[in-house]
Amino acid sequence: MRILVLGSGAREHAIVTALLSENVGHEITAAPGNAGIAADVAVVALDPTNGAVVAEYSIENDIELVIIGPEAPLVAGVADELRQRGIAVFGPGKAAAQLEGSKTFAKYIMETAGVPTGRADRAGTIEDAIALLDEFGAPYVVKADGLAAGKGVIVTSDRDAALEHARHYLQQGSVLVEEFLDGQEVSLFLLSDGHTVLPLSPAQDYKRLGDDDAGPNTGGMGAYSPLPWLPDGFVDEVIDRVALPTVRQLAQEQTPFIGLLYCGLIITADGIRVIEFNARFGDPETQVVLPRLLTPLSGLLYAAATGRLSEQPRPEFTTDVAVGVVLASEGYPEEPITGRAITGLDRLEGVTVAHAATAHAADGHFVATGGRVLTVVATAPDFAEARATVYRELQKISLEGGQFRTDIAARVAR
Ligand code: AMP
Ligand code: GLY
Repeated sequence: MRILVLGSGAREHAIVTALLSENVGHEITAAPGNAGIAADVAVVALDPTNGAVVAEYSIENDIELVIIGPEAPLVAGVADELRQRGIAVFGPGKAAAQLEGSKTFAKYIMETAGVPTGRADRAGTIEDAIALLDEFGAPYVVKADGLAAGKGVIVTSDRDAALEHARHYLQQGSVLVEEFLDGQEVSLFLLSDGHTVLPLSPAQDYKRLGDDDAGPNTGGMGAYSPLPWLPDGFVDEVIDRVALPTVRQLAQEQTPFIGLLYCGLIITADGIRVIEFNARFGDPETQVVLPRLLTPLSGLLYAAATGRLSEQPRPEFTTDVAVGVVLASEGYPEEPITGRAITGLDRLEGVTVAHAATAHAADGHFVATGGRVLTVVATAPDFAEARATVYRELQKISLEGGQFRTDIAARVAR
């Protein structure tokens, strides 16, 4: 199949790697991709958020499936433009992508569809925010309403810090103040064709920068899959109580969700609660979910894009586990220092590397060009072995000031 993958992160590299692993001779192009992706497939310097440009390119090059990786092209309406021109695309249109792009819209859909989630209210002024913080009490949860690359959320017992965060994001619009939910977090990805959903294997993401969940929220510092501690029937419960009601509600609102429904969940003492939806594959969870997928990814995504998911059996996964650790630049997430050399990648054994923010330097080495630089992933029969492999190999990579968590999957490895 001729496939165009939009995006330039480790998630898109993992998608490309999964497509290549099918070994059926797909012709894959990524736009714009990154240095790691360019080592594996063709890349083209298109602006992935420009629907007209992506559509022209797809038509000229007989692209049979466009896979949209990041949220920005979704929210910009690229999927709508492609669909209007008859191109099969995996990714929701602008309206359905508001499930991720607007926390207020997500809450509206959940309330209407009866999906379990935390209590929350929107504040448009600092006075509203103060009133809500005092109503909900500590620990405080304040979220930017729009897209903020995982950094728009603060969870803190420090009232001044919560207020400061609210003040900052109120300059850009409204904020959401939410009830604190206590429990284990789960990321569950479901493929949707607008009507039917099919689950992928659950994963857990580590959102905080430092070990033991210290430090600020990030886009995600590591992940593992599957989650051996999940209660029986968890995935089916999420399908019945969260994913299907949400997809049906969106269909009823004439905004069918075709793409990846990312359910960010917390298992509280009172049951499952949605903390967020995303309208795309998660990063870094994708880097640990896709290497375990046995069913060909292209067939699943094409079936979703063409409204034929009901003809597909549930995706199958290996019993092997996967652990992924993100290497980030010094200064991430506030102000990553870029331009530093990354060496040692050519010496790695037994792992795959999903590149995120890398470029080729003149001397043939890679340089870091952003905050999250790459994800190192190992699969193995058990977590102890996968962890040992990932951390052994990470020691071989040198990036001045590079940061990574040392406790990814530690809780399941003993
Ligand atoms: P979000 O961008 O909404 O996923 O939030 C980022 C992270 O903040 C989540 O992964 C959780 O770790 C944390 N978080 C968000 N909302 C809540 C909440 N209501 N209670 C506790 N933690 C939360
Ligand atoms: N890993 C969190 C996200 O992709 O939003």
